[in-house]
Amino acid sequence: MDAKKFIEEKVKEIKETVGDKKALVALSGGVDSSTTTALAHRAIGRRLIPVFIDDGLMRVGEAHRVKDFFKKLGIKVRIVIDRREFFTATATDPEVKRRKFRRTFYRMLGRLARRYKAKFLLQGTILTDIEETKRGVKTQHNVLEQMGIKPKRFNLPPVIIEPLKELTKNEVREVARELGLPPEIYDRMPFPGPGLGTRVLGKLSPQRVNIVRKATTIVEGELAQFKPFQAFAVLLNDRATGMKKGKRHFGNIIVIRSVESTDARTATPSQIPWEALQKVQQRICKEIPSVSRVLYDLTPKEPATIEYI
Ligand code: XMP
Repeated sequence: MDAKKFIEEKVKEIKETVGDKKALVALSGGVDSSTTTALAHRAIGRRLIPVFIDDGLMRVGEAHRVKDFFKKLGIKVRIVIDRREFFTATATDPEVKRRKFRRTFYRMLGRLARRYKAKFLLQGTILTDIEETKRGVKTQHNVLEQMGIKPKRFNLPPVIIEPLKELTKNEVREVARELGLPPEIYDRMPFPGPGLGTRVLGKLSPQRVNIVRKATTIVEGELAQFKPFQAFAVLLNDRATGMKKGKRHFGNIIVIRSVESTDARTATPSQIPWEALQKVQQRICKEIPSVSRVLYDLTPKEPATIEYI
């Protein structure tokens, strides 16, 4: 792929499609939605309405980090806070949980499109998202039309524009670099749209998401020096017996997941030095007292996938 040519073509396409109307883009701050936003902004400028949905499933300080970052690029991001709906739409079964997230997410985008009078929806769906959803591996939150789902079902604008849908993750990074985005965007670890919702097994609650949010900050911070493709924490839907000050402590179990990959189609576990893993364990148990056990996941994709649901 020639990134320069790709950008020229997509900018032209977006301009022609949107015309003098407005388009809405849901920006999570990940590589794909950030690249889509920068690309579309180049095409239609202020007629692009980027929204960051603060659904309570994002990482620490993410909403303001994204808003401030895009402000420096001259792009205004609106933060929309709605946590209740996302915590209500939860389930134990992973696929039901993913579909409920998708429904809540798109209904909200439908309402926002009407509020901002946006006639188009832009989204950063990439090739792997589509491939995995079509193959039935998992329902990625942002795959609709490829699964025969009409935008009308969620009251969305009738036309969804997906400029990155033929690209893999490493190609998206090339486009981001060519667009002039800094390494903090194009080198950023992928973060799934349903956010920490994919990292809490079982039903979501603000308390359980908070545990995984704190653990995520520790894992990301401690492992950043090894530049993994993706590193995060997962909260299991079970507990394990441990000991605290000599007394029984039936606590939470956190898994550390760190993988190497180029396109997320396959992945291998990162070979993290033992000392670094120990430090992550010590910090998690100290800073999150409800945790009694920390594990490191050794499984490649396949037979595992990167995320746990
Ligand atoms: P898996 O877990 O299938 O993930 O190996 C492959 C890549 O996709 C990310 N991922 C998602 N991204 N919406 C997204 O935007 C989703 O629903 C979703 N599920 C997984 C995952 O983090 C990994 O980089």
